[in-house]
Amino acid sequence: GILILDFGSQYNQLIGRRIREMEVYSEIIPFNTPLSEILEKKPAGIILSGGPSSVNSETANLVSKELLESGIPILGICYGMQLITHLFGGKVSRGTKGEYGKAELEITKNCPLFAGVSNNSVVWMSHFDEVESVPENFDINAKSGVIAAISNLEKNIYGIQFHPEVTHTEEGGKMLSNFVFNICKAEKNWFLTNYIEKTIAEIKEKVGSQKVILGLSGGVDSSVAAVLIHRAIGKQLTCIFVDTGLLRKDEDKKVMKNYGEHFDLNIKLIDASERFMKKLENVSEPEAKRKAIGNEFVAVFDEESHKIEGAKFLAQGTIYPDVIESQSVKGPSAVIKSHHNVGGLPEEMGFELLEPLRELFKDEVRKVGEELGIPHHLVYRHPFPGPGLGIRILGAVDAEKVKILQEADDIFIEELYKNDLYEKVSQAFVVLLPVKSVGVMGDERTYEYTAVVRSANTIDFMTATWSRLPYDFLDLISSRIINEVRGINRVAYDISSKPPATIEWE
Ligand code: XMP
Repeated sequence: GILILDFGSQYNQLIGRRIREMEVYSEIIPFNTPLSEILEKKPAGIILSGGPSSVNSETANLVSKELLESGIPILGICYGMQLITHLFGGKVSRGTKGEYGKAELEITKNCPLFAGVSNNSVVWMSHFDEVESVPENFDINAKSGVIAAISNLEKNIYGIQFHPEVTHTEEGGKMLSNFVFNICKAEKNWFLTNYIEKTIAEIKEKVGSQKVILGLSGGVDSSVAAVLIHRAIGKQLTCIFVDTGLLRKDEDKKVMKNYGEHFDLNIKLIDASERFMKKLENVSEPEAKRKAIGNEFVAVFDEESHKIEGAKFLAQGTIYPDVIESQSVKGPSAVIKSHHNVGGLPEEMGFELLEPLRELFKDEVRKVGEELGIPHHLVYRHPFPGPGLGIRILGAVDAEKVKILQEADDIFIEELYKNDLYEKVSQAFVVLLPVKSVGVMGDERTYEYTAVVRSANTIDFMTATWSRLPYDFLDLISSRIINEVRGINRVAYDISSKPPATIEWE
């Protein structure tokens, strides 16, 4: 397969996905992985990713020149190209203003990377440093104001300043495919049906006749993991579904029906809503709420899991982006919200871990889900945060507010589906503010809560824009919520992008 050395670019996962879409295995590993480990993997090609550092800095993220001399075809993207230049003795300098956005690619000397690529096609730039002079024995293949592509055909090394993995680069797919198939001569070896068969065999082998437990949340990852494991070991799997009282309307019933009845999964439904409400009494600070909910979840899960006699394995819906994030050289990104501690379980619970989706990107998890017969609308559900409605009711949480929010949220989601908009947005929900305002209904004065409708579009949830939902649709949502949900008399639409706002309100 193709190895991607991670220098910290936000686009790295996209490179990995693009290559897997070509049915070629790709793996993303930290740039400082020892050379021997890299060579052991026998990659057909190596991609040096982009990244925020500068090759001229004293603390630059470097690789050994030996790697570049190993004969394995190399493609450096953005920082990767600057790194190649630097290591072979060319010069990288700080540009005057940086270059962000679209540029036209003027191909000055063709090379295998650009086979079939038209001249002047649009590419996406995002860089500050630039290559000033190329190393000896390297050609300049393209320009775009700056030096945009270089190569040394004899060594099979290529560098491009732009990002072929993003859709704004019109012929980026062709360039990546040229690299993967023509330059690296990689073989197609990544098929999800094989993955399912192989994984089922592995689970059977690993688990034997032992028992497995899994925390089912109703979300995509845990559900697909559950169905996949069930396919392998049937009733040896017990799922624990904790109703925190902070879930969407009728979530418990839906999960029991969709997975308990339809897939015949063994599900233990634990109604712990009262316990959670107690822990949340008078807690209004967002991080304190996250902590309270997270701790209680672990406590409930711990109790319940140990009631299942002889359970040896704990299964989790960990997916590849989680793995990449945890091994990333950037370290865990600055804590703005303590996402990853919530809804997760501590490492030491006394079980052996079973993580059958560890190698898969989200879109692959969805494909596996559909392949296993899970209905489309279930595998394409939006993500839902671990602390649930607890962080969508601003300030203190109580059962009455939960009920109000569940009703409003349910109307919004139902209408998104009905109007064929659900899959056009990445995440959509309603937030309940502790703000009351005056309204009039019939002849009566009302004094009730304000609901905020939030819908975001994003690829990676790191940056997001607010969804341009049609006015008529917003009007429909607003009238339905105000007319049908007692306790809300005003609806606002959130038009903030991330950054500087976040997707959730807490
Ligand atoms: P923000 O609000 O940071 O959210 O823009 C980005 C994505 O993360 C989800 N999110 C969470 N998920 N526990 C979770 O499991 C949390 O505490 C949490 N906070 C935010 C959010 O729903 C969005 O998809």
